Amino acid sequence: MSDFAAASSPERAEQSAPAVGEVPVLEVRHLGRSLRLGSEELEILQDISFSIPPGEFVTLMGPSGSGKSTLLGCITGLDNPSSGQVLLNGVDVSKMRESQLAGIRNRTVGMVFQAFNLIPTLTARENVEVPLYAGRWRGSPSARAIELLGLVGLSHRLEHRPSQLSGGEQQRVAIARALATEPPLVVADEPTGNLAATQGKEILELLWDLRQRMGTTFVIATHDSTIAGYATRMLQISDGQLVGDHPGPRAGAR
Ligand SMILES: Nc1ncnc2c1ncn2[C@@H]1O[C@H](COP(=O)(O)OP(=O)(O)OP(=O)(O)O)[C@@H](O)[C@H]1O
Ligand SMILES: [Mg+2]
Repeated sequence: MSDFAAASSPERAEQSAPAVGEVPVLEVRHLGRSLRLGSEELEILQDISFSIPPGEFVTLMGPSGSGKSTLLGCITGLDNPSSGQVLLNGVDVSKMRESQLAGIRNRTVGMVFQAFNLIPTLTARENVEVPLYAGRWRGSPSARAIELLGLVGLSHRLEHRPSQLSGGEQQRVAIARALATEPPLVVADEPTGNLAATQGKEILELLWDLRQRMGTTFVIATHDSTIAGYATRMLQISDGQLVGDHPGPRAGAR
């Protein structure tokens, strides 16, 4: 049996199946992504299926070019699958119209990127407020942003702009922004990739702490083996296929 067949075998599915009645935060069903490049059809992702119950800290690992960012893009809606389905909290978002999708995305999935992607002309507080205004947050966006920046240890940097912050601090702002609307799922693409090792470790500790405190589910694409040490679940992708789906070193950790 190939690794891929083993990964998707009924035994494996049973091991990682959510408890009865529990809706997975994220479910990916037979997802494919292909691109036409000249006369060639490029298969970037092929028949990827997995299901993530709430509270998991998932790492997505694989060689450069294996399709990690493309998969995260299909999950967050930055990219469109060519086939298959993506369900966020049980809602199939793969065929939704953009107008419907924007609101659902704003409430159900936060994103963290390698290069932080903060708006350079806005302060830390204003960057965190952006998704709150877009999602019509019920309370004061400013109060919520200040609360979140406190949570990530940046109460003393509220009015700094990104260029006035260190890399680690910028990533903390990006994490606060991703968590602003209380999404059950946060997806991160190489969140420590632009940071020195000690800063990266601090960011990781922060993500783990936020999972403990808020119950947020994380899916993190990475090459960093330190991150893998925190995983409750490990997905492995190679050449656009899911070749591994295993419990991580912290499986079962509360
Ligand atoms: N717009 C595009 N046009 C053509 N090929 C693309 C496009 N986007 C991605 N690819 C190809 O798809 C494959 C997967 O890319 P992807 O960025 O998802 O990989 P990755 O696993 O995130 O890699 P890395 O670890 O380097 O970030 C690569 O071979 C890439 O060249
Ligand atoms: Mg990538």
